[in-house]
Amino acid sequence: MTNFTQFFRSTIGRKLLMGFTGLFLCSFLVVHFAGNLLLFRSDNGVAFNQYAEFMASNPAIRTMEIGLFLGLMVHIALGIRLWLANRRVRPEQYKVNAGSDTSSLASRVSFLSGSILFIFLVIHLRTFFVPSRFSSSEVSMYHLVQDAFASPLYSLFYLVALALLGYHLRHGFQSAFQTFGLRGKRYLPLIEMVGFIFWFLIPLGFAAMPLFFYFGLS
Ligand code: HEM
Repeated sequence: MTNFTQFFRSTIGRKLLMGFTGLFLCSFLVVHFAGNLLLFRSDNGVAFNQYAEFMASNPAIRTMEIGLFLGLMVHIALGIRLWLANRRVRPEQYKVNAGSDTSSLASRVSFLSGSILFIFLVIHLRTFFVPSRFSSSEVSMYHLVQDAFASPLYSLFYLVALALLGYHLRHGFQSAFQTFGLRGKRYLPLIEMVGFIFWFLIPLGFAAMPLFFYFGLS
């Protein structure tokens, strides 16, 4: 086994990889959010459809999608391992100090919110990504979004998932920088400010989308 693979099999190696993949997924969220802002333009979806068409046909984007998928899979696999490892040590920790077992609690809550977000992603991709990439008929992404968010149940599901996304990122973002050893006094205000954008402002902006369509503001 090389030093490299050995490092990423160690606990700290896994935690670092978890942090890197988490931040990589956050960078995708920024791009996705920026593109989706076109939904708010009052042009009956012309700009958004052009953007969606570009995303579906550009070879560079299609290649990046593979990286995105791999990053997501690594993040999920490591999250499950971390949760299992925490479960194994929990009984002993409880004997010592049940009340202050915060890191194990955070890991359990992250695992739960992450698992629900996974279900959200499967449904989300089935609704938008699959027709955009694999349908032979010409689908207007804008009308697909409009139709999906006309349903109160579907919109409500998004709002719950986005609240969970905020919760997941609130812990995950600062935890990644803690693992990188950068959460000292010097960088803390910057990490908290950027973290706030990720865990609060971006999920809030995404949540505005189902509300915008549900209340017929498009
Ligand atoms: C609530 C507002 C959202 C809307 C209206 C929306 C809409 C869409 C649409 C139309 C697509 C297919 C076309 C494209 O690739 O751009 C897509 C793809 C995707 N969405 Fe969303 N999305 C939203 C939120 C989210 C959130 C919060 C996440 C992650 C937690 C997410 C993750 C993804 C992923 C991973 C893809 C596949 C992208 C790719 O491989 O290029 N979306 N979304």
